[in-house]
Amino acid sequence: MKTLAANDAETRWSPSSWRTHRADQQPAYTDDDALASVEARLAAAAAIVDPAECAALREAMAEVARGEAFLLQGGDCAENFDDAIAERVASLSALFDRMDAAIAPSLDVPLVHVARIGGQFAKPRSAPIEKRGSVELPAYRGDIINGFGFSAHDRRPDPERMMRAHLQSVGTAATLAAARAGRDPVFTSHEGLLLPYEEALTRRDEAGRWWATSGHMLWLGYRTNALDGAHVDYLSGIENVVGIKCGPGLEPDQLLALAEKLDPANRAGKLVFIARFGASQVREQLPALMRATKAAGLKGAWTVDPMHGNTEKAGERKLRRYAAIVSEIASFIAIARAEGIHAGGLHLEMSAEDVTECLGGGGPETVEEMGRAYRTSCDPRLNARQAVALAETVAALL
Ligand code: PEP
Ligand code: CO
Repeated sequence: MKTLAANDAETRWSPSSWRTHRADQQPAYTDDDALASVEARLAAAAAIVDPAECAALREAMAEVARGEAFLLQGGDCAENFDDAIAERVASLSALFDRMDAAIAPSLDVPLVHVARIGGQFAKPRSAPIEKRGSVELPAYRGDIINGFGFSAHDRRPDPERMMRAHLQSVGTAATLAAARAGRDPVFTSHEGLLLPYEEALTRRDEAGRWWATSGHMLWLGYRTNALDGAHVDYLSGIENVVGIKCGPGLEPDQLLALAEKLDPANRAGKLVFIARFGASQVREQLPALMRATKAAGLKGAWTVDPMHGNTEKAGERKLRRYAAIVSEIASFIAIARAEGIHAGGLHLEMSAEDVTECLGGGGPETVEEMGRAYRTSCDPRLNARQAVALAETVAALL
């Protein structure tokens, strides 16, 4: 018979306890020594964000959950190693300001800002292999894992890339903090996907609590939400705000089980439920989930990601239609209203650059026009004009 203590030690969370669970969407590193060396250096490296700031975001998110604030979350689908940091941070901060100016007048609550930046480098992929003609190579998984170029050399996962992502993120977070000095902060966020990286950057505070210092907020991706999986295990132990992407097929019981595992204490503002069903499925699927979280008395916030459920293919390119994005947001707001839940915010993929990746809304009108400045290394982003137009539309809906 196991003693209680032994049993407890087996099940207790630690930053590395995810290793005893199945980890989906991880790179197949081939050099164990190189990986171990990176992990050791990252464990000794500077935190990217300060736990005190992560705690401040928890407070702010508690206000979102109570209906006393509105969350604007957005940024690139994926950051890249060749991003021009100073320019990018300044223009994203300015884009948040422009969106605020559109939304704030129709809100009677303050805005909370969270960027997809300073760590948004790892991408889950639907297919592990990319095929072009007769050539098959591992899929691109984000600059923190492998290269975008279509060659065996580029696509080989290299753990050393984690060091570069860390260094770039330190610079990005510091630049962003400086850009907002004396104003309301823009917090950082990314998908908690690459677990060796997250584990190595997890730090303990004086009270013995564990914080991810890779970003202020981490979210659980739609493809890695297995209840007994490694990602849920890792995210269940950190104090940071944790998002849960809620997409097609997620059952109310499943969401309640995830919430229970990620935050058994049901702390205000700890969890953010991010609806990403797509314009055609949101009306059918979201009401039951909102009803379930409400009936269970969960103190998480509800927001909408109108991007990931509205992705189409045009040849080899992905595209998203502005009209579908607006439609999903409108449905989200109407459903939340009907269910007595605060429509807490938006989660967008957007760029401050004049990119042409989404159709309509003042952007390109045809697939041909999309070719002019299609620059994303992963999913299509709203450009600045489309993002501001969307903010105006959302203001009218609210
Ligand atoms: C993302 O936010 O970039 C993403 C991959 O989302 P999801 O897990 O909802 O598909
Ligand atoms: Co994306």
